[in-house]
Amino acid sequence: MRLSCKTILAGLSASLLWAAMAQAQSATPVPENAAFEVEQVFAGTCGFCHSDGGRAAGKGPQLMNSPRDDDYIRSRIKHGKQGAMPAFDGAFTDAQIDQMVKYIRALKPRDG
Ligand code: HEC
Repeated sequence: MRLSCKTILAGLSASLLWAAMAQAQSATPVPENAAFEVEQVFAGTCGFCHSDGGRAAGKGPQLMNSPRDDDYIRSRIKHGKQGAMPAFDGAFTDAQIDQMVKYIRALKPRDG
């Protein structure tokens, strides 16, 4: 079967997006008792869309100084948002997600 160029291009950009999503979702099956390095995990898993450790907007909004409450943040991380952000409730435990909420709350500009 011959694929048209257009089909290939459409397929390619869809699979690029998929690769990014899949990478975001599978990056962190952290072993149960391993230290959870939240800053590193954030950089590797979320940094693709939330730039500079969450300090700046990227594909996703800036998280530093978020006006949202903790429940909103926790729920966004767990459930993601259709077409915008993957859900992470399978990738992280509740305790790990709590640490990410704390990390986001504690974010400060890098240069004081
Ligand atoms: C594929 C890109 C992508 C990845 C990866 C991603 N996000 Fe997001 N995130 C978004 C987008 C886009 C939004 C805005 C969604 C909306 O409209 O509410 C968002 C919104 C959020 C919000 C809500 C911010 C607000 O003010 O509404 C939080 C908190 C958040 N992300 C945290 C995280 C964390 C933590 C991770 C990593 C575990 C992560 N995100 C990974 C794209 C991403």
